[in-house]
Amino acid sequence: LDNGLATTPPMGFNDWNAFGCNVSEQLIKQTADYFLSSGLKDAGYTYVNIDDCWMTHTRDAQGRLVPDPAKFPDGIKGTADYVHSKGLKLGIYEDAGTATCAGYPGSLGHETTDAQTFADWGVDYLKYDNCNNKSDGTRQDYVNRYTAMRDALLATGRPIVYSLCEWGVNNPWEWAGDVGNSWRTTGDISDNWASMLSIAKANMPLASAAGPGHWNDPDMLEVGNGGMTDTEYRTHFSLWSMMNSPLLIGTDLRKATQQTLDILSNRDVIALNQDTLGQQATVVSSAGGSYVLTKPLANGDRAVALFNSSDQAQHISTTATAAGLPKRGTYSVRDLWQHTDSESAGTLSATVPAHATVLLRVGADDQGGALDNPPMLDTGATQ
Ligand code: GLA
Repeated sequence: LDNGLATTPPMGFNDWNAFGCNVSEQLIKQTADYFLSSGLKDAGYTYVNIDDCWMTHTRDAQGRLVPDPAKFPDGIKGTADYVHSKGLKLGIYEDAGTATCAGYPGSLGHETTDAQTFADWGVDYLKYDNCNNKSDGTRQDYVNRYTAMRDALLATGRPIVYSLCEWGVNNPWEWAGDVGNSWRTTGDISDNWASMLSIAKANMPLASAAGPGHWNDPDMLEVGNGGMTDTEYRTHFSLWSMMNSPLLIGTDLRKATQQTLDILSNRDVIALNQDTLGQQATVVSSAGGSYVLTKPLANGDRAVALFNSSDQAQHISTTATAAGLPKRGTYSVRDLWQHTDSESAGTLSATVPAHATVLLRVGADDQGGALDNPPMLDTGATQ
């Protein structure tokens, strides 16, 4: 959607994966505080998003949604004010049906009122779900329901990122490019390897639909929730970064381990996700459960993922030219999890443990070895 927003994939937090219906103002404020104290804000995380169950079961006399006063004593407005005071942005959840998935009032037929209410409260991001939709199942009905809220949001004049959550039911990657800033491509993720892997595989072939302002969304991150190993969480984060997915943290940050924080705040990996070219990775080759993915970057480098989805270690190999780089004698290679730099004559390979991903940033070097050509010499600066 060309509303000037989400020119790179949104980064932030959403409470659903870790808390379900137990959302509260206190949780949102503490998460905002934690974004600052942990360095996550500096790493690029901006949106603190409220999911389902934030409201009461009835609208007020004017037909407006009402925040649950027990969960949000200062309302959404007060919560948004706090989040904004930290230099962050607030997201909320609603549904393109008669009720949300958890049974609270939906926005179908109330789009104008609800969009204006969100704008009045200072909301910056809307996740728009698909439960209880009364749909005839046709694509046109999906387009109509999601377009109605797009137009209502635009009419408020407030910049609000619009995240479609119709679970990939009606192939939104084929029609939602000018409806939403992102669209879920699959059903809900769970905190286990099989779920994460099947979602990643479903999202991989959809690269051509993604670009600045309009992203495929393979659902929120499970990193830190305990159902996968740290190796598997590094793969999860590597793939979501390569696929330009929104990076929405889905764990209780107040209890996050150092390993979890290290994964979520790996700036080398985040830089792939946030690269301004905005091109989702494509699969170069695959065999026996191993995949080579590549993604072009704005400065001419290529990101290369050697991903082993199988249950045994595998030797995975590709070349710089297969990954899309021009033919050169030497390439610079940075390992984005090991944080080490080396050179290659063209072969990019590794023995990759089960469920692991080796993530590389590869540059074509015009004048020989990277060490002979430090970036300082290219700046034109005089010392
Ligand atoms: C659906 C969505 C989830 C979450 C829940 C809330 O299942 O896909 O991401 O928002 O609803 O009820």
